Amino acid sequence: MKNWSGKSVLVAGGAGFIGRHLVTTLLEAGATVHVVDNYATGEEASMKALCARFVSHLTTQTDDISENHVLPPTDVIFNLASPASPRHYQADPIGTWKSNVLGAFHLLDHAQNCGASFVQASTSEVYGDPLHHPQVETDWGNVNPVGPRACYDESKRAAETLLMDAWRTGQSDIRIARIFNTYGTGMTAGDGRAIPNFMSQAKAGQPLTIYGDGSQTRSLCYVSDTVDALMRMGLMDAAKGEVINVGNPVEMTILQIAETVNAHFGSRSKIVFEPRPVDDPTRRCPDIGKAKRLLGWSPIVSFAEGLTRMAEDVRQPTEVERVVLP
Ligand SMILES: NC(=O)c1ccc[n+]([C@@H]2O[C@H](COP(=O)([O-])OP(=O)(O)OC[C@H]3O[C@@H](n4cnc5c(N)ncnc54)[C@H](O)[C@@H]3O)[C@@H](O)[C@H]2O)c1
Repeated sequence: MKNWSGKSVLVAGGAGFIGRHLVTTLLEAGATVHVVDNYATGEEASMKALCARFVSHLTTQTDDISENHVLPPTDVIFNLASPASPRHYQADPIGTWKSNVLGAFHLLDHAQNCGASFVQASTSEVYGDPLHHPQVETDWGNVNPVGPRACYDESKRAAETLLMDAWRTGQSDIRIARIFNTYGTGMTAGDGRAIPNFMSQAKAGQPLTIYGDGSQTRSLCYVSDTVDALMRMGLMDAAKGEVINVGNPVEMTILQIAETVNAHFGSRSKIVFEPRPVDDPTRRCPDIGKAKRLLGWSPIVSFAEGLTRMAEDVRQPTEVERVVLP
């Protein structure tokens, strides 16, 4: 997408895994990019390497970030400011609530003050342990509101409610992306997500750890595909007021994923099984009919290609990714 030239863009959470890829691609497309990030799970040094403009700030801070001129006027806001790995969001559940609910409030204020379009990075976790398969945007979800994952699932749902109310009352131009599992270069080995875990274990010749019996499924989208969808949502009028699944509909069991990673890295590591986390979803697969229809988008990077890109990145790290890879 080349037509970002002249656009001023704010990426909240821009120092995180998806954020760094989004910021890089926006800069390449000619946008002026501002990043707000408290570096809770993000990489400050990587951001400096990107030469975007930075505001080190919590989106949850109670002062009005717009009126106090903490943030510059922008045309498009991407709100990615939330921990995404269960290990991170469960370590500080109240902070996760604040990031997702107060953070959305403050950024919405800013969007209203400067008339910006607002792209919210929501999540497939709003479907909880889904009752319908594959997951369609009209599904209401099946979430345990008091379980250990609820701080993330329910606060993302609350943010969706807030933003859709702002859209319905004509106060803001809102676009909601429900992102399914995304992987790619620049993920940190210790952040608890399956792909970096399996990769680091396979490369070290250690057993690959599966939580549960491995029959639960996931659909994995390569990060450049996710970023492409987010950028289309930021520019295209067809996304206004819409909730759109962003994910790769190729569904695999966790066991298949572990075996594929092992084979891809020529590893003979054993696979070991640990107890399955509470409320871990059984199946995950997006229906992406709406993304195809409204955005003309569908993912193009296969799982094998994605793993190859990650392996090459380890051998030859880029300026942005050098900091985070082990
Ligand atoms: N990666 C995925 O598979 C996935 C799937 C679904 C949804 N998402 C969503 O996409 C977004 C980005 O995910 P990611 O994988 O890049 O996560 P990440 O943890 O790598 O990045 C999140 C970034 O937000 C920053 N941040 C968190 N709270 C903040 C706050 N209150 N103020 C300012 N900065 C804050 C962190 O420091 C970090 O840089 C998240 O909102 C996440 O919920 C990601």
